[in-house]
Amino acid sequence: MATSKRLLGMIGLGVAGALALGLTGCSGGGDDKGGSDAGSGSGDLITVGFVAVGPEGGWRQANEKNIQDTFTEDAGYDLKYAPAANLDQKSQIDNFTSFVDEGVDVILLSATEATGWEDSLKRAQEAEIPVILLDRGIEPDDTSLYVTRIAPDNVEVAKEVGAWAAAEFPDGGNYIVLEGPAGVGVVNERNKGFEEGLGDSSLVKVAAQTANWSTEEGKSVTETLLKSNNNDIQFIFAQNDEMGLGASQAVEEAGLTVGTDVKIATIDGTKNAIQALADGKLSYVHEYNPLFGETALDVVKKALDGDKVDSYIVVPSKAFDSAEAAKAALPDRKY
Ligand code: AHR
Repeated sequence: MATSKRLLGMIGLGVAGALALGLTGCSGGGDDKGGSDAGSGSGDLITVGFVAVGPEGGWRQANEKNIQDTFTEDAGYDLKYAPAANLDQKSQIDNFTSFVDEGVDVILLSATEATGWEDSLKRAQEAEIPVILLDRGIEPDDTSLYVTRIAPDNVEVAKEVGAWAAAEFPDGGNYIVLEGPAGVGVVNERNKGFEEGLGDSSLVKVAAQTANWSTEEGKSVTETLLKSNNNDIQFIFAQNDEMGLGASQAVEEAGLTVGTDVKIATIDGTKNAIQALADGKLSYVHEYNPLFGETALDVVKKALDGDKVDSYIVVPSKAFDSAEAAKAALPDRKY
């Protein structure tokens, strides 16, 4: 029974600190499946509850497919995929609670909202079920409540976007920010990083508005802001590709030219955005690499074996700052 193994794990290993609490939850000694032989009723398979976001756009689809393609039965896992209902946090909390009650061996969480997770995480901790955050962080960020967060560094990625924008506009100009939904942790991180990257640039923010990660809203919000600013916008920072692609459509329909009249920078690095960069419809794309399933699998093994893990594992991500760079990268893009 997994519970008895967890109890043995707790007794058998010195707990190095609150962070390690979840790591000693399931130590049962390694086996040929490369991890603890903990199993919660599904034979030898390690059960993984994936509290996911679900349909949200190209990045999310790539990320969640990569996780599902990695945690396979052949690899020794029973991955239970639980997408949110219409991005609703309550459905995520309900899914999380079900996994705790079911006694899964480990939980992966991509949070639709940053706040409101303390009670759920404490319940998992009491049940000695390690929780690993994928992509999205929690606020307040209490690292004792989870094993680690695996994600590219949003602040650093956005800082590079800001630095690029500052260099592109040495004489300043007006810009707008198309943000993800309010309450999503990465939105705040990207705003923070972007402003750090701008430094003492004389670029002026004339508006910041959510376009909810969507192309349609990215277009409509940009149309409105271009009109209300008499097209006097020189730069658009879109916090994800889809919103940036919508902005690009709006710029062109306003009779302006991307790259000449308005530069557009986005984050994610999905194939559509890299193609748009190659075609001159975007000006800069910073990857936010979603393909970290192997890293997550390695962390799950370490967590179940009681090994210590850093509280934030940064996934490397690169920038594309020209059509030439995009054209060179396109053949090898995996998402
Ligand atoms: O949390 C990552 C963000 O969520 C991506 O940048 C966006 O495309 C996704 O919806």
